[in-house]
Amino acid sequence: MFFNIILASPASGSVDLGWNLAAMLSIPDLIKKKRDGEKLSDEEIKLFIEAVTANTAQPCQIGAMLMAIYLRGMESAEIQTLTREMMLSGDVMSWPNEWKKLVVDKHSTGGVGDKVSLVLAPALAACRCKVPMISGRGLAHTGGTLDKLESIPGFNIQQTSEQIVGILDSVGCCIVGQTERLVPADRVMYAMRDATSTVDSLPLITGSIISKKGAESLSALVLDVKFGRAALYKDLQSARELAQLLVDAGNGLGIRTGAALSQMECTIGRCVGNSLEVIESLETLKGNGPDDLMELVETLGGMLLMMTGLVSDLSEGKKQISDVVIGGAALSKFQAMMQAQGVASETAASLCSAHTDYYSILRKSEHQMELKASADGVVQDIDGLILAQVIHKLGAGRSKAGMPVNHSVGAELLVSLGQRVKKGASWLRLHYEDPAPSQDQIVQLQKALTVDHSETTQQRQSLVAEVLLPQ
Ligand code: URA
Repeated sequence: MFFNIILASPASGSVDLGWNLAAMLSIPDLIKKKRDGEKLSDEEIKLFIEAVTANTAQPCQIGAMLMAIYLRGMESAEIQTLTREMMLSGDVMSWPNEWKKLVVDKHSTGGVGDKVSLVLAPALAACRCKVPMISGRGLAHTGGTLDKLESIPGFNIQQTSEQIVGILDSVGCCIVGQTERLVPADRVMYAMRDATSTVDSLPLITGSIISKKGAESLSALVLDVKFGRAALYKDLQSARELAQLLVDAGNGLGIRTGAALSQMECTIGRCVGNSLEVIESLETLKGNGPDDLMELVETLGGMLLMMTGLVSDLSEGKKQISDVVIGGAALSKFQAMMQAQGVASETAASLCSAHTDYYSILRKSEHQMELKASADGVVQDIDGLILAQVIHKLGAGRSKAGMPVNHSVGAELLVSLGQRVKKGASWLRLHYEDPAPSQDQIVQLQKALTVDHSETTQQRQSLVAEVLLPQ
């Protein structure tokens, strides 16, 4: 089957400014207005975003406006317009009519060991959805889906719009990087936010995330908004505030948008680090996944199936996702997706076979070291932030955009929360190369494990604290 891709022009759907208004307003006027705490009109936001995209706004003017937005905030209507105008700054994808209700994606605000996308995208494809998942690279201590997938030899995250349509037609899902032509205003603003300390602004985060999802022309979107010590937002209340803004902005663009608020204290699953997380994802797709990862995949997938109308309630959605993972249909989709994105067919088949020697394909680190529990007792806590920060410094993450990562570096938890351990038992296997962990880093890692002397073991707590669904 062949489909034409129709890309809306940047100006489509936009308000005609007319020469009068454009002539009257200058960028310094707009900056002054926001600086003084006034609300920007739709036309003023449009003018600013057009100037950013056309490169006619000076970097200092963009930086000043970002800071004004950071300090003064934006009303909900301004955030809606900002998001829409950012989306319209580049290509907007268009899908065949028969997919209209089925095109879905998810966004996570960043976690440790967060490999949900690798399982969720093929599971949704196995439930008849079309999933053009546009993912990112690691940010700060959090891992990036694209970095994980690039640990698979041959996996190509760069696909054109035409190739994406072809893969969705034949497989149902792909996981790709942002194309050059998608939301160019965000590319400029994101780089400047980094340079002007305006990254953690709710209106700017909302515009950045939702404009890119809007450009994918989704039918439904689910947001995994994390809270806890290893998340961007530390407490439930601030995560709730971000989630509500994101949900409103998504629904404002006509995308059925929901959110799950999920805890990010430890790690998701047992592995952190690029190749290790690919292995854990493949094991999950073979039916051997950890409960916390499966809980997130089922909840987020179930919400999307509900929002597309493929199921009528969340529990039915969760069950369908669980069935395609346990039954192997999602694994077949992952295999087909790898092949469609450049992985040799023997490699894809071997990674998906029941008794794979993963390290005959994925690179194993030259060195491993096991850390030992210092007391008998029950595991009360494992600090995911410490684990992530140490392995990031050992090369699993990057300190500057564009730097390579070492796919083989990472850590495997050998114990779980609530488990009884003996003094001297191994609790963490560290995979490293150059640099080797310093003594100080080993001391740090040991502090990540809290064992107490209580006699009772504990049940695992649910990761998902709240779910927001559109009306
Ligand atoms: N991810 C984005 O794409 N933008 C942000 O502002 C934050 C996370």
